[in-house]
Amino acid sequence: MLEPNPPLTDLARDASLLLEETFGAGPALTAAAPGRVNLIGEHIDYCDGFVLPLAIERHVVIAARPTDSSIARVVSTGLDPVEIDLSVPQKAGIPQWSNYLRGVIQGFLDLHCRLPGFEAAIVSSIPLGAGLSSSAALECAFATLLEGLVDTVLPTVDKARLAQAAEHQFAGVPCGLMDQFASSFGQKDQLILIDCRSGEPELIPFTDPSLSVLVAHTRVSHDLSDGGYAARRKDTENGLALLGKSSWRKVTMKDAYAARETMGDRLFRRARHVITETARTIEAVEAFRANDFSKLGSLMDQSHRSLRDDFEVSCEELDLMVALAKEIGFEGGVLGARMTGGGFGGSTVTLCRTNDAAAIASRMHQRYLDETGIVPLVFATRPAAGASLLNLSS
Ligand code: GLA
Repeated sequence: MLEPNPPLTDLARDASLLLEETFGAGPALTAAAPGRVNLIGEHIDYCDGFVLPLAIERHVVIAARPTDSSIARVVSTGLDPVEIDLSVPQKAGIPQWSNYLRGVIQGFLDLHCRLPGFEAAIVSSIPLGAGLSSSAALECAFATLLEGLVDTVLPTVDKARLAQAAEHQFAGVPCGLMDQFASSFGQKDQLILIDCRSGEPELIPFTDPSLSVLVAHTRVSHDLSDGGYAARRKDTENGLALLGKSSWRKVTMKDAYAARETMGDRLFRRARHVITETARTIEAVEAFRANDFSKLGSLMDQSHRSLRDDFEVSCEELDLMVALAKEIGFEGGVLGARMTGGGFGGSTVTLCRTNDAAAIASRMHQRYLDETGIVPLVFATRPAAGASLLNLSS
């Protein structure tokens, strides 16, 4: 019940076939970008915090070929086809999903790139609404494709920011920088520690083959554009204003206690999450580097409780999935578990022993199904490489 990850070459073949079936000719270039899962540091990327994601072995792949027109024609399995005029400034439009593409196109137009017309076909192995950044992967894969089409390579940080701006301005989600950074900067066998104040990513080796990351999607959908995410972000902005500080990095728990009455209970709890989660992420990196998994596991526990009780972005199904991993425990190979991503549904992340991963996945799958009647999706991943053009001849 450990769902396999479709190999990148299979996704590339499927995208190529879809392109050929739809438009009558195969690709000239193929771009891919991974989703991400976050080990710790949740809902603090927009609060100058630290986050610790990894790119996952689940991807968006786009096969494309340029045409002589100024129109982009894009198809994807199960979604309405998209047609975009590349010669005019972009506006949000329909279908809804085309806005990720429109936002990235506008980013390139802002850089004064002349985009040729093209036909493209998109396939993905990242479940939608799972909190695994399928939208960031789409933006980053598409930005990488456009780089290829105009024969330029943007600095990685600029590409990630361009993708983040697309999400803000065209998809209406005021996200932080974690997802697009993880999808762009990901590297095989590396976690990415991002200092969200400076925007500096640092790679942390994750090379020990005896460690695995399990992702368990509750199949309860998560839609960040429906308001909960923006409301949390607003709470942190209002909290910071009441604290009279210019950055969350400058706020201590002592400051928060001193302002508790002015802030009121809700904003105080939001503040407590931001301050403690930032500290936990730094401690988690130290614990990880020192192979101190009981410490790391306890930090992941605390992170989950803080997201559940103080930040209020968990839900019953996420709490259950985390409890099921915890029930297996250290002896069964589970080192730590928590909800991951934006929350309100979506997935959990479990750090575990590779030898036990299959048994842990089966048990979580079965117990979750018994308790909820919902079939979850559980897969293992190692840190994967970030967005790139695929060289399919080698
Ligand atoms: C979503 C956002 C990210 C981040 C996470 C929560 O994935 O896109 O920027 O805020 O939620 O950590």
